[in-house]
Parts: sequence; structure tokens; C-alpha cells
Amino acid sequence: MSLLKIARMGHPGIRQGTEPVSSEELHSQAIQRLIDDMVETMRDADGVGVAAPQVHVSKQIIAIEVSPENPRYPNHPAVPLMVLLNPMIIDHAETMEEGWEGCLSVPDLRGLVPRWTRVTVSGLDREGQVVALDAEGFFARVIQHEVDHLNGKVFLDRLPDLQTLTHLREYEQFWKR
Ligand code: NI
Repeated sequence: MSLLKIARMGHPGIRQGTEPVSSEELHSQAIQRLIDDMVETMRDADGVGVAAPQVHVSKQIIAIEVSPENPRYPNHPAVPLMVLLNPMIIDHAETMEEGWEGCLSVPDLRGLVPRWTRVTVSGLDREGQVVALDAEGFFARVIQHEVDHLNGKVFLDRLPDLQTLTHLREYEQFWKR
């Protein structure tokens, strides 16, 4: 496994759409290795999620893992490692709530982003099995954030009020609950 370079906002790849992973591709060494490397890269950067465009690959692959000890997003309920290929949000709650988000591709910034409180996401796991699951709260937020990446969106696009945008140090000082 190896660490991948993270694309930052401004790199055109962050704003491009992505291609689904075909079933032949899914079982290839290249894709399986990419998934391992994405997970390693996410953990190394203390991310709670990563999408393939963030590591310069225009494919529909996301990885999510939340630990309550994560230094960037502490005290959120744990989410075991989840890898999803070709994910689609197929259902969501009627209500949204605001929560703080940052992004490995938008370093040092946080903003208050409204997201659906609950989503149902479907896709394939890394073995190609169809999976569908319900998520709520922070887990649902991370899913929506990562799926946005596959459509060339970053959390800044979802900010209703740019005035909530804050650098990390100021977030820690003034806004962290
Ligand atoms: Ni992100």
C-alpha cells in the first residue's frame, strides 16, 4: 500500500464528474489496490472520508471511516470502514440540519453545511456485492459530502452563508462546541 497525493481545490479533477466502475474493473488489481491506498491515505490524513477524485482518479469510489478519537472530527459516533463503488443516494429524510464540515481538498477551513438528516445509499462493495444502507447524523453527512465529490462538488458549494466559513484555528477558538 502507499499514500496517495491529495488533490486540492483548484485542481481541475476536483471539479470534474466521475465514471462508474465496471464489474470487470472492480475485480482488477488496479482498482483493488487503489481502494487500499485510498483507505491508507484517508487514515494518514485523519480524514473521515475520501473520494477517488481527491486522489486524482475520476472514478466513483468512496471510503468512509469514523472513529470517536479522530482528531479532526472528535466525538462522533463510530462508523466502521465502508468502501462504496458507484454510490447513489436513493432516498433521504425531509429535513436538513446544519453541521460543521471540512475537506482534505479544502485544507484549514470549516463551514456550516445543511445536509439531509438521514439518507439511504446504495452501491457496490469492493467485492461487487450490491449493498444498500440507511445512515443518519454525521454518517449521513459524510456520505453526502463524499458523493458530492463524485459530482465535482465541494462543501463550499453547499454553504448558504459564507460568513460561517472559518479557518481551523479560529474554529477551535470560537466555534467548537
Ligand atoms: Ni471532501
